[in-house]
Amino acid sequence: MISKRLKQVADYINKKDIVVDIGCDHALLDIYLVKEKKLKNIIVSDILQSALDNAIKNIKKYKLEDKITPILSNGLENINISKIDTIIISGMGTKNIIKILRNIGKSKNIKKIVIQSNNDYYYLRTFMKREGFIIKDESVIKDKNINYITMQFIRGKKMYFYSDYMYGPVLKLDKNNLWYFQENLKSLEFINKNIPYTSMQKKYALKKIRVLSKIIKKLNNF
Ligand SMILES: C[S@@+](CC[C@H](N)C(=O)[O-])C[C@H]1O[C@@H](n2cnc3c(N)ncnc32)[C@H](O)[C@@H]1O
Repeated sequence: MISKRLKQVADYINKKDIVVDIGCDHALLDIYLVKEKKLKNIIVSDILQSALDNAIKNIKKYKLEDKITPILSNGLENINISKIDTIIISGMGTKNIIKILRNIGKSKNIKKIVIQSNNDYYYLRTFMKREGFIIKDESVIKDKNINYITMQFIRGKKMYFYSDYMYGPVLKLDKNNLWYFQENLKSLEFINKNIPYTSMQKKYALKKIRVLSKIIKKLNNF
């Protein structure tokens, strides 16, 4: 069985998706996708030979050499992108993800991108919107005391506000996520009180506190 964090990513993938998993490392997610979600084929790639060797070892262990193809690649460099329609990137930071996906909007056959970044969600959402993608779905979970957000992007146009980019247009409407926003507010208030901010930083923190308070109030009234 895979971790709760990887299961969260797998939940956004369907049997018919033609997938490349960028930064696969151990490829445990991809083995799960083939075994449990019945994907016929999947390409897995990593920038490091050592990581790809991990993947190859696991693929062999599960005898899935005919279904999972490992490729050494920096991002999408060595991937024949015209042959796929879905990209997975999980367990990386937004800065790296943006480098990998720059100009992805031009690859018209890519219809779905599933991302589990570990930071800077505001920049990730604004970047993806500029590339021509909207958030179809997103979720937040806690796994081993760490919060993970996974987003499913599809092509489309939508108007988003600051609160959508910052806290998620889907996340902020789900009462089950109240705990996440309350946690965020608590830590922001603590930092704001105890760290000597410049006036600019203070203004920014107060803006976030205002937005979070509004989201929490709305969710409480649902
Ligand atoms: C923390 S691991 C995450 C592994 C797996 N995706 C997961 O979520 O458990 C990040 C992996 O991404 C790979 N990576 C980082 N930058 C990359 C890039 N530009 N192209 C391909 N792989 C990359 C690293 O070598 C590493 O194996």
